[in-house]
Amino acid sequence: MSKNRRKIIAANWKMNLTIGQGKELVHNILKEKDLPCEVVFAPPFTHLSEIKKITSDRDKVFLAAQNCHHESSGAFTGEISTDMLKDMGVQMVIVGHSERRELFGDTGKWINQKIKACLKRNLQPIFCFGEKLEQREQNQHFETVGKQIKEGLSGLSEAQIQDVIFAYEPVWAIGTGHTATPGQAEEMHQFVREEISSTSSDQVARSVPILYGGSVKPANASELLSCPNIDGALVGGASLKANDFLSIVAAV
Ligand code: 13P
Repeated sequence: MSKNRRKIIAANWKMNLTIGQGKELVHNILKEKDLPCEVVFAPPFTHLSEIKKITSDRDKVFLAAQNCHHESSGAFTGEISTDMLKDMGVQMVIVGHSERRELFGDTGKWINQKIKACLKRNLQPIFCFGEKLEQREQNQHFETVGKQIKEGLSGLSEAQIQDVIFAYEPVWAIGTGHTATPGQAEEMHQFVREEISSTSSDQVARSVPILYGGSVKPANASELLSCPNIDGALVGGASLKANDFLSIVAAV
C-alpha cells in the first residue's frame, strides 16, 4: 500500500452504467497511455471483476468499491465484506460518502468500523466527509467536518491514519453544479490537515492525500487542483464521460 501523498483522480460512478458501458468507458480512458497521476475507478459492486480484468495490468490504475460492511462474514443480507472485496482484487473502498450517510443511515460509528475493517484487510479507505448547505450557512462547516473526522479516525494508530485517503465533499456541491470556490476548498483542506495533525501528528497530516469532490468538471479542475492542499479529486457526474474525466486527469 502506497503511503505517500500523491495526486489521485478518482471516479465514483455511483449507481450508473451497465457493465458493457463501464468497460467501454474504462477502455476509452485507458487509451491514454501516459497518466500523470493515480487514477481510481469505483464502479458498482456488480462491475468490479470485469473492470479489474481491464485495469489489472496498468500501472497507477486502481479499483475501488463504493461501500463495504465492517464484519468479514455473517447474516447481513445484501452486504459485501472487505474480505470479499479483497478476493476480487479491489484495492480501495469509498467510506462515508454523504449519500450513504444521508440515504442509508451510515453513522459516524459505522464509518469508523468500516475504515478499520478496510485497513485490517490492507484496503485503502477513501474517507469522505463534508457539511450540508445549512451547516455552511450557519457557519458550522468547520465544526461539522471536525466532528466527522474525529469520529472516522477514532481508535486508529498513526500508521493506520497514514494509509487513509481523505475526501472533502461539501454536500451542497455534490451533483448540483455549485462547486466550492478554490478558496473555500483550500481553506477546508488546510483545516482537515490541522484536524488530522491533532489526532495523529503533523508529519502524518502532511503526508496524506486529501481529495476534493463536488461538481468537479473540466472547466474548474485546474483551478481546484492547483491549490496547495488539494491532492486530487473525487469525481461523480464528470467521471462517466471519458473525455471529461481525461480532461480532469490532464489538469493535474
Ligand atoms: P459530482 O461530481 O457529480 O458532484 O459528485 C461528486 C461525488 O459525490 C463524488 O463522490
